[in-house]
Amino acid sequence: MTGLPYKKRRCARDMVYFSNYCTDRGWCGAAQRVARSQTGENMAPEIAPAMPLLTILQYPDPRLHTVARPVSAFDDRLRQLAADMLETMYESGGIGLAATQVDVHERLIVMDISKERNQPLVLVNPEIVWSSEARKLNEEGCLSVPGVFDRVERFESVHVRVWDLDGKARTIEAQDVMAICIQHEMDHLLGKVFVEYLSLLKRDRIKKKMRKAQREDAH
Ligand code: NI
Repeated sequence: MTGLPYKKRRCARDMVYFSNYCTDRGWCGAAQRVARSQTGENMAPEIAPAMPLLTILQYPDPRLHTVARPVSAFDDRLRQLAADMLETMYESGGIGLAATQVDVHERLIVMDISKERNQPLVLVNPEIVWSSEARKLNEEGCLSVPGVFDRVERFESVHVRVWDLDGKARTIEAQDVMAICIQHEMDHLLGKVFVEYLSLLKRDRIKKKMRKAQREDAH
């Protein structure tokens, strides 16, 4: 998910284990790049941002409509996938990414809604166990539909049962951006992209726009 003004990039070399974060801008090359790009200085090619590690499927790719299966093994493969997804999400400036979007059809989500981009969350096999009666319209965006933002109605708060990478279960009580992001990413795991909440007319326009951009990128 995108849609919030958190675009900072972060130190890729710390991402593999995502336990040791680079907070010292003076020390970390990646953070210095951010600082420079934010001041509007021209960036030399050798310090241009890295490409995202995993390829994010772009709407209307039919693979985005695959329904994910539950994660069954909490092993090194899962930890590596989560680390790669977090790196991809940070590099792309998103606040959430579902495994579906990188063509892995398992119930795994990564998120970071913090301004500082230093609070990664990995949600395995998320299930909503409670939702508020209140709903709210919010503007959303998505890394699979770049440049498109529109309003979607979501539950204002949700309680979500999740597992961590060690297979430990807990319940997250989410509100506001966190609740929106979780619902947006959980939709991906069911094969649903947020533009499917919009009118057919809007969706057709978005499909045309995306296909045109993809054709132009291919040249
Ligand atoms: Ni999305």
